[in-house]
Amino acid sequence: TELREFPNQITTIERFILDQQRGFPDATGTLTNLLYDLALAAKIIASRTTRAGLVDILGSTGEQNVQGEEVQKLDRFAERTIFRLNDHTGRLAVMASEEEADIIPIPERFKTGKYVLLYDPLDGSSNIDFNVSVGTIFAIYRRKSQEGPGTLEDCLQKGRDLVAAGYIIYGSSTMMVYSTGQGVHGFTLDPSIGEFLLSHPNIRIPARPKYYSVNQGYERYWSEGVRRFTRWLQGENEEGKELSLRYIGSLVADFHRNLLTGGIFYYPADSKDPDKPHGKLRLLYEAAPLAFLAEQAGGYASDGHRPILDIQPQGLHQRTPLFIGNRSLVEKAEYFIRTYD
Ligand code: AHG
Ligand code: MN
Ligand code: MN
Ligand code: MN
Repeated sequence: TELREFPNQITTIERFILDQQRGFPDATGTLTNLLYDLALAAKIIASRTTRAGLVDILGSTGEQNVQGEEVQKLDRFAERTIFRLNDHTGRLAVMASEEEADIIPIPERFKTGKYVLLYDPLDGSSNIDFNVSVGTIFAIYRRKSQEGPGTLEDCLQKGRDLVAAGYIIYGSSTMMVYSTGQGVHGFTLDPSIGEFLLSHPNIRIPARPKYYSVNQGYERYWSEGVRRFTRWLQGENEEGKELSLRYIGSLVADFHRNLLTGGIFYYPADSKDPDKPHGKLRLLYEAAPLAFLAEQAGGYASDGHRPILDIQPQGLHQRTPLFIGNRSLVEKAEYFIRTYD
């Protein structure tokens, strides 16, 4: 009887994805397989990030990427791993990545497919050398072009049109969290068996938020509205209650924590770098996929004026201010920006 009453059913990510797909009789299984491939990429990248101290993969490649950032060896490794797992499967029309200036075509010798994959191979890469959590973010769209090689236009789609999105966090354990529009589900990698097991079904952002997360070192570059909003979070509000501050500097890790505890992450526009009037984070590889997850979990994401998911991208590496977390907090940020900026 004890066995029968054992409450924790063990569900692998493969089983879960397959069961979810059963709800869609027309599904061909392509998306299912694409998600499996990303889970495999996650395991391969995790095996490297956790060994980073022992093998020669710490540090910089000595190159700069299209964002003007130093490319770390693990950025490059993660980038190539995801590309190589997906270039030949016939599931994708085209890819694009934070680390590549242009769209990444499917090599001509392989067939193209109906989906588009956009990714941030390694998020928070400035943290790699210090044993702090990093992540991977992915976004999947349906192609718009009819056939042949995918196009730039296939990549420039609104977050509203996402088919699936998710992230992998390489932390004290490795987790994969994703949504296909039927809620947000989290899986923890059991390294002893090499499987992602369902650990966080149907994640909902808690109604009472705990944390706010922002790089407050840049406060003097912020607008009046963002400064006032920050003071509101710090307790200058109706209830006289403040949130606690947490900031890791890896978007995936900051987002993941706030998703589970309630709170808000923001990276506002600032006046520090005149070349980046829209802040730092990238719409396609960072803001849109996490905005999709936030909304699926009952939260919200905004650029301070409008939903992130409604922004029509104009360029592959377009940046956007980002406010993401509990809906009430993000709407409060919009209010302060509307009123004081
Ligand atoms: P990436 O490592 O993919 O380039 O992303 C870095 C981003 C993001 O992870 C994080 O939220 C932000 O940079 C931190 O920026 P600051 O150091 O300016 O706070
Ligand atoms: Mn980068
Ligand atoms: Mn990133
Ligand atoms: Mn990155």
